[in-house]
Parts: sequence; C-alpha cells; structure tokens
Amino acid sequence: MSMLRDPSLADAGQLKIDFAAGRMPVLSALAERFAETKPFVGQRIAACLHVTTETANLCRALVAGGAELALCASNPLSTKDDVAASIQRDIGAQVFAVHGCGRGAFYAQVAGALEVRPTIIVDDGADLTTTVHRERTDLLGDIIGGSEVTSTGVLRIRNMAAEGALRYPVLPTNDAATKHLFDNRYGTGQNTIDGILRATNVLLAGATFVVAGYGWCGRGVATRARGMGAQVIVTEVDPVRAMEARMDGLQVMPMARAAGLGDVFVTVTGNRDVITLAHMERMKDGAIVCNSGHFDVEIAMAALTGAATRRREIRPDCVEYTLPSGRRVLVLAEGRLVGQVAAEAHPAEVMDMTFATQALALEYLVRNAGSLAPAVHEIPREIENAVARAKLDSYGIAIDELAETQQEYLALWLPGT
Ligand code: NAI
Repeated sequence: MSMLRDPSLADAGQLKIDFAAGRMPVLSALAERFAETKPFVGQRIAACLHVTTETANLCRALVAGGAELALCASNPLSTKDDVAASIQRDIGAQVFAVHGCGRGAFYAQVAGALEVRPTIIVDDGADLTTTVHRERTDLLGDIIGGSEVTSTGVLRIRNMAAEGALRYPVLPTNDAATKHLFDNRYGTGQNTIDGILRATNVLLAGATFVVAGYGWCGRGVATRARGMGAQVIVTEVDPVRAMEARMDGLQVMPMARAAGLGDVFVTVTGNRDVITLAHMERMKDGAIVCNSGHFDVEIAMAALTGAATRRREIRPDCVEYTLPSGRRVLVLAEGRLVGQVAAEAHPAEVMDMTFATQALALEYLVRNAGSLAPAVHEIPREIENAVARAKLDSYGIAIDELAETQQEYLALWLPGT
C-alpha cells in the first residue's frame, strides 16, 4: 500500500530523476557498485526524506544494492508528486508522500513507511526515529541502526541519547564534513536565495538582508546574499559565531534591532520563535520573511495569523499579512523551508556528496551490524575521504600526495626550527 498524488505523473518524474543522475557522478558510481556487491540484501529500509530527484537517486542506489525500501516525505510541502510517482514505478520503492497534505496525513505517511518493518531507518529531521521510539517500539527489535541527515534531526537524536532513550546506533550524516560543509553551506545558500527570488522576484542588490543564525546554513545564505549586492545583518546567540560573522564583514546585532532595518529576513537556526510577532510589528511595510531551518517553528506564524487583519495570497508561496498598524508582512512558503518549497531544494551536484556519504554510511552500518552501541557515532573519516576524492575526480581535479618523508615528519614531535 502506498500513498501518491497521481501515479500517472511518473513519466515526467523519471525524466527529471535521470537529469539529476547525470549531475550525481559519485552516487551513480556507487549505485553501479551496489548493483554488483548487493550490500543491502535482506535489509528493509524506511526512509523519511524530501521527495526530490536527488532523493530518487539515493533510492535507486539502495534498491540496486538489494534493499526493500519504503519512502515517506520529511516535509509536506517539499514533495514533488511526479518524482514520487516515478520512485514507486521505476525504482520500485513504496512511496508515501503527497505534496501539500495536512499534518494528519503527513504522520499517516510516516506510519505507512514503517509498515515495511524496517531493519534500517534513514531520517531527515528524526520523525521516523521518534515515532519508532514512542509509538512503534514493537519494531525496535529488528532495527540494526539508522542515519540522520540534518542538523535538527541530529540534535533531536543526541538529546534522545543523552536521556538514555536511544535504542539503536545512529550515524549522523549531517556531521560528516562531506555533508555540512557543502550541502548546508552551498546547497542551502543557493536554494534559499532561489526560493526568495521565485516567490517574490525582489531585487537583492541594495536590499538589507537579515540572516538569523550563522551556522553552516546561515553562512551560505549570508555569503550568497552579499554576493548579490545585499547589505547583510546577522543575528546570533553564540558569541563565537557572532564574532565570525563580524570578521566576515557583516553587521551583527539583536533581532529586536534588525527587525526595523531589514527588507528580507531568513531564519536558519533550528530554534523556535526566532522572529516573533513583536519583531514583525516593528518591520518596514512590505518586509519579506521566510525560513530555511528544518521545522516551521522559527517564525511565530500562529501569532501572526491571529493578529493579522487581512491575509491574502499575492503569488505562489507568498502570502501578505496586514497588521493592525496597517503595515504588511510577506511570508514565504508558510514559514517552511523556503528553498525546498518555493524552489527545488538542493541542486543535484551537492546532494551527490550528501547522499554518497549517506549510502556509504549505511553500507558501514550493515557491515558493523550488532557491534555498534546504541549511540550517535561518528562517520568514519575514510568515508569522507572516499567521497571527496571521487567528487574531485568527477571534476577532473588532481591533488598532491604526501611524500613518505612528509608522512614521517608529520608523525614526529621532536623536530623544531
Ligand atoms: P548550526 O547548528 O550549524 O547553526 C545554527 C545557528 O543558529 C547556531 O550558530 C546557533 O547559535 C544559532 N541560533 C540558535 N538559536 C538562535 C536564535 N534564537 N537567534 C539567532 N541565532 C540562533 O545548524 P545548521 O547546519 O546551520 O542548520 C540550521 C537549520 O537548517 C537546522 O534546522 C537544519 O536542520 C536546517 N537545514 C536546512 C537545510 C535547507 O535545505 N534549508 C539544509 C541543511 C540544514
């Protein structure tokens, strides 16, 4: 049993998936290897991921490796229905994902994916992980482990581990250098700007652009906005990261002050209530507000909806709220991940590294089944190096190698000047 918007959309989805595959050389090569070595035979994988062309190519690699796969969406608005239809028809996974479904249907889809009785959990935001630990503890006995692809999910799972609640080993794909240095920075950097432009067509040159959170994603967004000529203001709670933003040449101040200055606001903190109603009341008329953090908790949407005297959809993914003062705030993508909703999520080139890292982490998990403690482990360095090397190869880039004397030198502690 699956849940799709319309299975007849599969042809359109297949075209896009193949197009993305051409820009994912590392993952495609892995899929070929998995087709021969079959590392996932006997494994049932439940995956909760944004249902995009890039995810489709991860599914292809896992199924080629012998996995039985059930896929649900990690956000109700990021699903591409044509891609979902093709993943089911052409790749052979069971898919539980419908664009724009409500909260109840979303969690019904999560439950649907768990019907595969997984041996492996592949998560993006920890919804499968928390559901298994709270509601489907009957499944725990079969699960050899899981992986988690985003910062917010890793945070949730680390919190579970700290409370002693985590019952199987988890590999935090997000923490691999080949993931967050590229995906969070360049992927989110580009798709956030892409989403804002598609939803508003605002001119960034000369605009004042406020980024809340200067983590890997925030840096990417700030760098791209600055590159397009915006004046960037960063808000932070971490003094080190705030200092980094300052030395990167950006203005740093509290949101209460930035609120009155910005033309465009992006939250990307993984935290809640970063932009409150009080902040929005202080904003200029027509300010644009959006979020790129994992959950739709960063902007106080309920308070805004409650206070607004008028709400009207101006363009796709762009809703105007009029406040009692008469000032208007434009909210993009209902406060959900703007780049996933109003644009097309991360480009394939960057997801190539993320999902190659993820696929190798899952192969490692299977190889070490039973010997990893129920904790959050590190992604082995060899996996990061293998992915980065393969990606460099795909660009035709060669690098230097350590000479034997250099290796020996680096292993010593006696030599000085
Ligand atoms: P991170 O942990 O590196 O950075 C988050 C930053 O936000 C930290 O520096 C933290 O101090 C700051 N912060 C926390 N509360 C704040 C507040 N109230 N005001 C201002 N700053 C605050 O995390 P990362 O990797 O940058 O991820 C951020 C969020 O984006 C997470 O929810 C993550 O899951 C999500 N994400 C979204 C992607 C997308 O496609 N849009 C891709 C990857 C991650």
